[in-house]
Amino acid sequence: MFGRDDEKSTLVMTLCKGHAHVIILGGSGMGKTTLALSALCDIEVIRKHPSRHFISCGGIYSVEALLPELANALHIRKRENLYDKVLTLLRRASNPLILCLDNFETIWEAETTVSPPPIEQFLSRISNIPMLSIILTLRGSQSPLNVPWSNNQCVLTVKQLDIDSSQHLFKNISGVTTINTYIEKLLEEVDGVPLAIKLLASIVQEGLETAETLWQAWEKKRTKIVKHGNNRLSNLEISIELSLHCPQMQQDPNAIDTLAILSLLPDGLSKGLLEEFQTHLPHDFSLCPSLATLQR
Ligand SMILES: Nc1ncnc2c1ncn2[C@@H]1O[C@H](COP(=O)(O)OP(=O)(O)OP(=O)(O)O)[C@@H](O)[C@H]1O
Ligand SMILES: [Mg+2]
Repeated sequence: MFGRDDEKSTLVMTLCKGHAHVIILGGSGMGKTTLALSALCDIEVIRKHPSRHFISCGGIYSVEALLPELANALHIRKRENLYDKVLTLLRRASNPLILCLDNFETIWEAETTVSPPPIEQFLSRISNIPMLSIILTLRGSQSPLNVPWSNNQCVLTVKQLDIDSSQHLFKNISGVTTINTYIEKLLEEVDGVPLAIKLLASIVQEGLETAETLWQAWEKKRTKIVKHGNNRLSNLEISIELSLHCPQMQQDPNAIDTLAILSLLPDGLSKGLLEEFQTHLPHDFSLCPSLATLQR
């Protein structure tokens, strides 16, 4: 992880004080999950918190849907009366533990129609549990939460990486050793968004585009967007588009369709089911090579 030393040390320090409530804010692809995971894997944090649970809330739209995920994390087998069971187990914890609810905005935004939102009540309850520290990551720049947190509270906003860290990240992924003017221009365009930097660097790493041809593709895409009067497409979206239409993807006609299929499966596709899944697809649609293309 590049350029997040201050945020990480604040996060680690806050967690190590115990009974912490942390909100990590930031735009899409800015590195909220990366920061949260790096703190959960920090040696000091691990030493002080024998159990740490990370739950992705993508696709979770209610407390009822969150509870089974919590039950899995906490190894609760019997599924009746989960609300009370989860609360009881958390209250009985004899060692400090951390619960990280990633992309919490999905559940939060889904529940704002009911007043007070059940998730707010649930958060309120778990936030009083002395052994428990909570990390929430939320897309956006403002915390919408209305929960009385304890004193040991911290709101971190992950912003754009500075130019030095952007260059380090680009070099690290692409394998290039020097930053030429085309990379400088690309990095200026993506403005320190780690996901965008990573996508562009991966295209260069594959050797299918040089920094120069990638810059030309970028300029073409941007001009096309302006011509069509759609200048709202962000630089992150242009990076995603370039990544989706890079030569690697174009050589594999099924790759985009495979991505579309995967995006419909909230829990992804397990390796054990690939063979069976393949039998339901047309004969000329080979899933495995397309998955390999996407992974690259
Ligand atoms: N500081 C960093 N150094 C290196 N790579 C980073 C850094 N921050 C993020 N990344 C990389 O950028 C990508 C996007 O990061 P991440 O998934 O953490 O963003 P996010 O803010 O959680 O996005 P979302 O809003 O979609 O959940 C990941 O591939 C991650 O590895
Ligand atoms: Mg995330």
